[in-house]
Amino acid sequence: MSSHKFPDNFKWGSATSSHQVEGDNRNDWSEWEKSPSRISQLKKEGKDPADFISGAACDSYNRWGEDFDLAKELGHNIHRFSIEWSRIEPRQGEYNLQELEHYKTLIDGLRERGIEPMVTLWHFTNPIWFAEQGGWLNPESPRIFAKFARFLAENLKEKVGLWITFNEGASVYVTASYLRGEWPPQHRSIFEFHRARKNMAKAHLLAYNEIHHACSPKISSERSVSQRRVPDPAPMSHNVWVGLTENNAHIVFGKYFWQRWIGKIYDYHRNLWFWSAVLPHCDFLGLNYYNIDRRLPGAKEAWPNPGWMPEMSWETDPKGIYHRLVALKKLGKPIYITENGIADKTDNLREKYIKDHLYWIWKAIQEGTDVKGYMYWSLLDNFEWARGFAPRFGLIEIDYATYARKVRPSALEYAKICKSNTLNL
Ligand code: GAL
Repeated sequence: MSSHKFPDNFKWGSATSSHQVEGDNRNDWSEWEKSPSRISQLKKEGKDPADFISGAACDSYNRWGEDFDLAKELGHNIHRFSIEWSRIEPRQGEYNLQELEHYKTLIDGLRERGIEPMVTLWHFTNPIWFAEQGGWLNPESPRIFAKFARFLAENLKEKVGLWITFNEGASVYVTASYLRGEWPPQHRSIFEFHRARKNMAKAHLLAYNEIHHACSPKISSERSVSQRRVPDPAPMSHNVWVGLTENNAHIVFGKYFWQRWIGKIYDYHRNLWFWSAVLPHCDFLGLNYYNIDRRLPGAKEAWPNPGWMPEMSWETDPKGIYHRLVALKKLGKPIYITENGIADKTDNLREKYIKDHLYWIWKAIQEGTDVKGYMYWSLLDNFEWARGFAPRFGLIEIDYATYARKVRPSALEYAKICKSNTLNL
C-alpha cells in the first residue's frame, strides 16, 4: 500500500448549488422547466416531463441540518453551496430579509459543525426580473449583479471568508444558453455568446471589488456601484478571498501541428477565457473538472485507458486533472478544486473515481501546484439541470419519494481520506 499525505490545512468537503438541492425556487430555470415549449420538447423525446422539473429537489431548504450533520460525520471541513439570488432579491432592489436570515442560520450551522462555508453567488439561475431585462445580454447586468454581491458581502462579512462570484459562467453557461440553445434562454448566436461572457467578466470585476470593499473596515461603504468604471482590483481584505470557478476539460489534441494549433485556441476559449479576462481580480481559482474533451480528428489514440461515465456519456481520465492543474499553475494563483465527481447510481465506480483523481491532484501538489482543498460533487444526489433527476452524483443517495438520505459506501471511503488527510492506495 502506498500512502500519499496532503498538505497541512488542506480542506476536504463537497459542493451543492441552490437550485439543484433546495426545492421550490422561483427563477428563470424553474419557469423554463414548466414552459409549454420545454414540456413538448421532452414529450417528443419520449421523456416524462415530471422527471425534469426541479420542484422540491432534495428539500434541502428545510433539511440542510440533516445534510450538514452527515457531512460532519463524513469528516468534511469545507462545504461549497450557492445563495439563490432570486430568493434574496425577488424584485429588483427589494431584498428579502427573511431569506437572508435563512442563509445566515445555514452558514452558522456549518460553522457550528466545524465546516467552513464557501459561498457561490451565481450558479446558473437568474431572478425572473433579471432574465426579463435581457439576462446577461443587458448592458446593465454587471452593475445589477455587483449590487447583489455588495448586499450579501455587507451582511455576511463576519461569517464568510471564501466567496465565488460565478460558477462556470463562460466555460459552460454561456455556451449552453447563448450558443447551443440548450438552456434558458435557448439562444443560438456567437455574438450573444461573446456579449454575455463579457458582461459576466465585467460583473466579476465589479463584484470582486464590492466584496472586498464591504469586508474591509478601512473603506467607506458609501461608494456606489453605478459610479465606478471598471476598476483596479481592490486591496484584498483580511481573511477574505474572492475567486471564480470555471469548468475545465482535458482537451485531447491531435498529433499534427495544425491540430495542436486549433487545440490551443479551443483550450483558451473552453478553459481559460474567463480567468484570463479577470486574473488580477481573482484571489483564487475554483476548478471544476470532470472529463476529457476529444474534439479533433486523429486524437482517438491519445489516451490508452479512457474511462466512461455512462449516466452522463462523458469520457473521464483522472490524469486530466493533473494536466489542468499544471496548466493553471502558470496563472500563479492558489487553487481550490470546487467540483469533481461521477454520476454513478450503482456506486461501483465512485470510490475509484475519487481516489484516482486525488492521486493526480496529490502529484500536482508534489510538483509545486498550490491546491488548497477538494470538494466532491456532490454531497447529495440532485437536480442535474436539463438532464433532470436521473444522474446520481451524490455521496449521499436521495429517495425522491420520501427525501430519505442514505450514505453510499464510497462516501465512507472518502471520509477515511478526509479524516486522515491521507490517500492510501
Ligand atoms: C457542473 C455544475 C454542477 C453540476 C455538475 C455535474 O458543471 O456546476 O451544477 O451539474 O456539473 O454535471
